[in-house]
Amino acid sequence: MTAAPAPAPADVAKGLAGIVAGSTAISSLEGTLRYRGYDIEALAAAGDFEEVAWLLLHGDLPTDAELTGFRGRIADAARNLDPVIIDTLARLAAANPHAAPMDALRTGISMLGMVEQDDHPGPRPALLAQAERLLGQTPAILAAWIDLTAGRPVAPWPAGPLAAALLERLTGRPPAAAAVAAFGATLVFYAEHEFNASTFAARTVVSTGSDLHSAITAAIGGLKGPLHGGANEKVLEVLGAIGSPERVEPWLEEQFAAKRVVMGFGHRVYKDGDVRATLLGRLCRDMVRGTEGERLEDLAARVERIMLDRKRLKPNLDWPAARVYHALGLPVKVFTPIFVVARMSGWTAHCIEQIGDNRLIRPLSAYIGPPPRDYVPLSSRR
Ligand code: COA
Repeated sequence: MTAAPAPAPADVAKGLAGIVAGSTAISSLEGTLRYRGYDIEALAAAGDFEEVAWLLLHGDLPTDAELTGFRGRIADAARNLDPVIIDTLARLAAANPHAAPMDALRTGISMLGMVEQDDHPGPRPALLAQAERLLGQTPAILAAWIDLTAGRPVAPWPAGPLAAALLERLTGRPPAAAAVAAFGATLVFYAEHEFNASTFAARTVVSTGSDLHSAITAAIGGLKGPLHGGANEKVLEVLGAIGSPERVEPWLEEQFAAKRVVMGFGHRVYKDGDVRATLLGRLCRDMVRGTEGERLEDLAARVERIMLDRKRLKPNLDWPAARVYHALGLPVKVFTPIFVVARMSGWTAHCIEQIGDNRLIRPLSAYIGPPPRDYVPLSSRR
């Protein structure tokens, strides 16, 4: 039995950097970020998350009737979360009220796979229907977890588009139109980003013939890490740790000396700046103009200047997104879960694309362990 020759360690692209690992028709980064050919700037300005989710899943913008039906089915899924899920979350919340909402989402989606008996990928219409349900169930699980860990009964899901409904559930009051617009824009920015770590994890899972819920469970685990989606929660910790404008420089110098990465800066693909960060940063500054929030913006601007001067690094999307969520009065622990709610659209679109033209994802490794050696029986080992 022989396998193909293994690559030499020198040929390995660590972290798969620069490797084209497949093709996709869902989004592209050439020039600017585009979803299915549409410029992210135009999609974010419209700020309609369901419109973008439909676009990602179906390939074209929806008609009015398609969008109305899609919105309604997502809201129905959010309103009708299975009681088994709520009861189990209630028991978990009672056992550990401090567990992270990201873990509740990962567990909740995994439980949904059992409740819905999802054991293999169905045909495309069934997958699209599952994706629609997940788009509604995910924010409903998040909101339920926040209620349950606060010792409240689970509140009903509000009427209206997803951005407004989720913002209302997370802040406890009907949001102003400007707040919904800003929140909706963040959902659009977070919706999709080709072969990022969590999406690639999801595609890898379905490439084995496994089901959508297993793939999404893996993706949430991947997104949670601070080098990926978890960075948006860390950004607010960074700003809090710095505290005041005169602390920016010494704080950053400490990080550089300790060779620590500064959360919210740098990107594997965007080496000359992340278009989403530029656009959302502008929106954030406009949103807080004339309010107390301007203080944090001044601090953030100073950090940006020094990061550019000292490290030639620009902010990524998590840098302004954290500030927008903070300005909207959201608690830090829901920042990455909101990213999950939005990225559900991209993840499910990618899983459906992978299933539609599948080949098992199975790369090679370069072996760097000991040379061949003889097995030593336990009785002879010293
Ligand atoms: N702060 C300080 N230095 C950073 C940095 C950051 N945020 N991001 C990258 N660098 C440095 C690296 O340490 C490396 O320095 P070196 O050449 O002296 O070793 C250099 O810049 C090149 O970076 P590299 O490690 O090749 O980047 P990557 O493509 O492997 O990693 C990230 C990309 C996103 C993981 C990385 O930029 C990072 O950890 N950023 C902070 C976390 C974050 O915001 N994540 C969200 C991403 S959307």
